[in-house]
Amino acid sequence: MFASDDRNNLPGETLAYYCAERARGGAALVEVSLAMVTPGGGNTSTDVDSQFDPLCVGHPMALSGRWPIRGFDPKVVEGYSRLAKAVHAHGGKCFVEIQSVGTNQANFSGVSKFPWPTHPIHTLPFTSRELDKSEIEQEIEAYGVAAKFAKEGGLDGIDLHGSHGTLICEFLSGAMNKRKDEYGGSIENRARFVEQVIKRVREFTKNEIAVAMRLDGDERFVGGNTPEVAAEIAKRLDGSIDMVTVDQGISPQQEDWQATPMYVESGYNLRLSSPVKSALTKTKMGVVGKYLDPVYAESLLSSGLADMVAMTRALIADPELPNKAMDGRLEDIRPCIGVLQDCWGRMIRGLPISCTVNPVVSREKDWGMSVDYKPVEKPKKILVIGAGVAGLELARVASSRGHRVVVYEKSKEPGGQALLAARLPGRENIRAIVNWLLVQIKKLHVEVKYGLEVTSEEDVVSYVLQEEKPDVVVIATGSYPIRTGFQPYTFNEVSGWNQKNVFTDFDAFDSSLDLGKKVIIGDTLSFIEAPGIAEYLAKKGKEVHIVTPLDNIGLELNLLNHWDHLLPRVFAADVQIHPFTWIKNIGDRAVTLYNFYYHEKETLMEDVDSVIFTTGKLQNDSLYSAFKGKVPELYLIGDAKIGGARIGNAIYDGQKIGREI
Ligand SMILES: Cc1cc2nc3c(=O)[nH]c(=O)nc-3n(C[C@H](O)[C@H](O)[C@H](O)COP(=O)(O)OP(=O)(O)OC[C@H]3O[C@@H](n4cnc5c(N)ncnc54)[C@H](O)[C@@H]3O)c2cc1C
Ligand SMILES: Cc1cc2nc3c(=O)[nH]c(=O)nc-3n(C[C@H](O)[C@H](O)[C@H](O)COP(=O)(O)O)c2cc1C
Ligand code: SF4
Repeated sequence: MFASDDRNNLPGETLAYYCAERARGGAALVEVSLAMVTPGGGNTSTDVDSQFDPLCVGHPMALSGRWPIRGFDPKVVEGYSRLAKAVHAHGGKCFVEIQSVGTNQANFSGVSKFPWPTHPIHTLPFTSRELDKSEIEQEIEAYGVAAKFAKEGGLDGIDLHGSHGTLICEFLSGAMNKRKDEYGGSIENRARFVEQVIKRVREFTKNEIAVAMRLDGDERFVGGNTPEVAAEIAKRLDGSIDMVTVDQGISPQQEDWQATPMYVESGYNLRLSSPVKSALTKTKMGVVGKYLDPVYAESLLSSGLADMVAMTRALIADPELPNKAMDGRLEDIRPCIGVLQDCWGRMIRGLPISCTVNPVVSREKDWGMSVDYKPVEKPKKILVIGAGVAGLELARVASSRGHRVVVYEKSKEPGGQALLAARLPGRENIRAIVNWLLVQIKKLHVEVKYGLEVTSEEDVVSYVLQEEKPDVVVIATGSYPIRTGFQPYTFNEVSGWNQKNVFTDFDAFDSSLDLGKKVIIGDTLSFIEAPGIAEYLAKKGKEVHIVTPLDNIGLELNLLNHWDHLLPRVFAADVQIHPFTWIKNIGDRAVTLYNFYYHEKETLMEDVDSVIFTTGKLQNDSLYSAFKGKVPELYLIGDAKIGGARIGNAIYDGQKIGREI
């Protein structure tokens, strides 16, 4: 599934290439998400000003600008047609998910332009009013029209979005639907709307395309639908729809359950879909929810728990997963690491998605399978310095094209900072991308020489050039953490930083260092470093405090669906959080804190054993100038180019330069 790529909210070329790539990789059915049946909220607005309404502030969904498809617009047929042809060319089928926005979707005008099933639903940030009967009829008609456009565009089916707080979901909901008429109350009444929608869709499409549905299996609200209620609803719909998938996550309150980060186990929705499966006799059951391992997916089919396994992120990370699985090449499947940074994280900011481990996503036209890596006419000798993910990805891509690559790594292990990232509790799977890169470069006969630190001294540089005789040198030496507490909120170092009780995120994992019992983490990144290290240390029995000038920790992670999964871990570990707070002075055992917005208010924290700063990183780029002018081609990639960047930037750089050399 994939949100629309195009700023005119019609299915564009990027989307067609993206979907074709998945079909070519062996997916039997490719589904495109989020076509609106009515012009809902700011979501389908191309009016840029609507993005700046003050009501959007603080509400991630309202900020999203997801660019959904204008499924109600006759112009959509042309885009569907391009999409259908692209997918059919590779033997796949193509569906589009259609929906009328529910109350919780972004709205930029304060009071909703949209009536909802019931009144009052007070959601973020507005209150709705109840749909009247004629409006219900208009909505039902709109579903029919949108389905007709899908059929006219040559798509093979539609998926009625009945989860995530869409209008169908709200009608079905035990918590949100408070109507007193024939559309509210009993399950029979609450299901009336979707039943009428299905009937109308069948009429408009003359029963010639498939009709599937996504059902919310656990509303996670008191009084909301449970898996058992979902099963009763499914029983009512059995046979009238062709397939159902069950998931969870009302927007925006439960956004974190729509696509979950790495903390959640594979198959997390099975407890919801299994009761539904038992209720069905005719309709097929699709399961969705972190299926990364094709062997596990296969076992669900053979055991009868599912008739279809849907994979979203597994196929974002590797569109060739099905073909590789069928060929028995499991070790070649590029793993999704569940960080949600470049798929969900980009979508939520209104950008076309990409992938942290697979920068080809949304660049399929130029970098996809049909183009692939251009073999080189004249192979070059490439020396990569640094075996972090940037250096390893470059080595992989360049050697696939026929270059000869050697990698120098100063430590005994490859992976660089990604290994530290994978030491944070619950994030071990990040290591999977390092392992995958190692398997790939081994197959490509890339040589990695460990324990070799290249320094900037002239004789060292000359020796290395003499030894390897490279045509190209790539500096992929990563970054090092800022130790002084310097950050962009005061543009100042923290007084007392140069004492021996001050550390960085890199040090937190070094067992030779004694951090003592009571630790303060000074954080301005608001990403995973502070909460992750806090949990790591607290689980070792330390008393951990995080201070931040911001209003919370992990603010960026809130956009990446992390809070519902990460914060319980942090609070369970008894980590103390001090928002709007920064460090004035670090003493021998006492640390002076101050309120960032009322400096006069100071607190002395005593018996502090150590302070860890997570305030940013600086690029380790000195080798770039040391090699400049001494080698025909020289490149700087990853964190060595931009200190404090991320895995996605590093892998993108490695891939881009690996293709260009
Ligand atoms: C605790 C922590 C958590 C993180 N969590 C995330 C996360 O969740 N998501 C995310 O996207 N990013 C995360 N990051 C950041 C991410 O890990 C880095 O941005 C990324 O790994 C950088 O990759 P790189 O290859 O450019 O550099 P590095 O990983 O720093 O690799 C550089 C390599 O070069 C080697 N090297 C350095 N100097 C020399 C030399 N002179 N000679 C030979 N070898 C040398 C190093 O030993 C290292 O192996 C995290 C970082 C940390 C520290
Ligand atoms: C970038 C992205 C966009 C998504 N958009 C939608 C959507 O529009 N409609 C929907 O029903 N699910 C959407 N989802 C949720 C997925 O359909 C799927 O349920 C979820 O990602 C869990 O499956 P996975 O673990 O295989 O990724 C989206 C997921 C991602 C990662
Ligand atoms: S960005 Fe992260 S979560 Fe999303 S598909 Fe890629 S690896 Fe998986």
